[in-house]
Amino acid sequence: MEKDTLLEIKKLIGEKKPLAYVRSFGCQLNISDGEKIKGLLKKIGYDFTEDERSADLIILNTCAVRENAEDRVFGIVGSMKKLKELKPSLIIGIAGCMTAQEHIAEKIKKSYPQVNFVVGTSAISCIPKLLLDCLKGQKFGMDIEEYDDFSAEAEQVRECAFKASVPIMFGCNNFCTYCIVPYVRGRERSRNSEDIISEVRGLVANGCKEIMLLGQNVNSYGSDRGEKDAFPRLLRQLNEIDGDFIIRFMSSHPKDASRELIDTIFECEKVANHLHLPLQSGSSDVLERMNRRYTAEKYLETVNYIRSRDPEFSLTTDLIVGFPNETDEDFQATLDIIKRVRYDNIYSFIYSKRSGTKAAEMEDLIPDEVKSKRMRQLLETQREISIDNYKRFIGKKMRVLADDVSKKKKGFISGKSNEFIIVEFEGDTSLIGQFVDVEIIDAMNWAVIGKII
Ligand code: SAM
Ligand code: SF4
Ligand code: F3S
Repeated sequence: MEKDTLLEIKKLIGEKKPLAYVRSFGCQLNISDGEKIKGLLKKIGYDFTEDERSADLIILNTCAVRENAEDRVFGIVGSMKKLKELKPSLIIGIAGCMTAQEHIAEKIKKSYPQVNFVVGTSAISCIPKLLLDCLKGQKFGMDIEEYDDFSAEAEQVRECAFKASVPIMFGCNNFCTYCIVPYVRGRERSRNSEDIISEVRGLVANGCKEIMLLGQNVNSYGSDRGEKDAFPRLLRQLNEIDGDFIIRFMSSHPKDASRELIDTIFECEKVANHLHLPLQSGSSDVLERMNRRYTAEKYLETVNYIRSRDPEFSLTTDLIVGFPNETDEDFQATLDIIKRVRYDNIYSFIYSKRSGTKAAEMEDLIPDEVKSKRMRQLLETQREISIDNYKRFIGKKMRVLADDVSKKKKGFISGKSNEFIIVEFEGDTSLIGQFVDVEIIDAMNWAVIGKII
């Protein structure tokens, strides 16, 4: 941030600390960007509020992955017109993936006069300049150019003291035909391993118990620099850091799920016994039209290798239902594969057409009711698998990082096991942020229940 800009802003806002409301939508990478935006605002002199009505500055850090995510943001921006009428000095900025689509940025400018500025995903560092222009009375500002990733150097206001997300790469090169991400996040750029290691070391020294390494395709880390196996190497280096903490990562692309990566997971005691491996569809035909670059058979080979090392290893996945012209047979293939793999959990989405992507040009004759019916069937199948799967933990000991009070059971604490399973157990709030050993006594379809040992 330029020193002059900072000084000018400080002069304009004076002694009083104005309040900022920053809300992030979408994936964990975007949430991490939101923490960086907060870091910038803190440096400028802002405090934070969870109530938009008391805010002097509102920043919505948006997601564009599905149409409903965009509609939600448009709804919220629309409702902010009232807030602006009540407080004309309120500054509203829109950041994140929606803004990287020119037609959306233009729509915001044209139809939502309450918005003061629009800032692109690679222009976060320009927020102070845009803010300064607004404070000086400029009606609208926009910066959606590509600059930097604003990564390692950025101070973050982290939402949680004991769990931290660490982006290790930005962008995506895969161009899955349904997906907007490569268009709004640009090409893959990996951070230096030294920067990542020193960031993780600092976090652990400050008491952080869980590190989540982030990337749209984490396991291709380093391939933009022509490095082979750079991700397993990074995991091994992070595993060497002293301290009691757990390493997770998300998302892995099946095409890059090498044996070396799997061996690394098993050989590094701090790396979690869990792999999120997005399948998207069980039909090789659909996978080809999605440009996923693996077949269902190849995916199963990877799963079989993992399960040959540990038959109970925890896997989760992402699935898309109703990709253009997905046939009943294609959908049946998805059901078959989830029954074979027996995921502990799935994240499933009805296909959403994203303008500018290849799939948006594909003819789609499947009625919406069919897509919804398939979704219900998928969820029902998984529900049965999850409850049955979770029974394997009954009578076993699990080490849980307690992270919140239970939303469903009074007097209970909720946490995640090493295997990424939600565990609830009776306990008090002083346990939050600690590893707790529990014995599992019951299983549900969304969690297991334990008692402290
Ligand atoms: N990079 C990760 C990967 O390849 O698995 C995840 C990216 S995306 C943010 C998260 C999930 O959203 C994807 O795995 C996919 O299932 C889903 N998704 C992406 N585009 C979609 C679309 N147009 N419609 C429905 N779901 C979509
Ligand atoms: Fe999207 Fe595919 Fe990249 Fe994931 S790998 S972000 S689904 S293009
Ligand atoms: Fe959404 Fe952007 Fe993430 S489109 S899922 S916030 S990279």
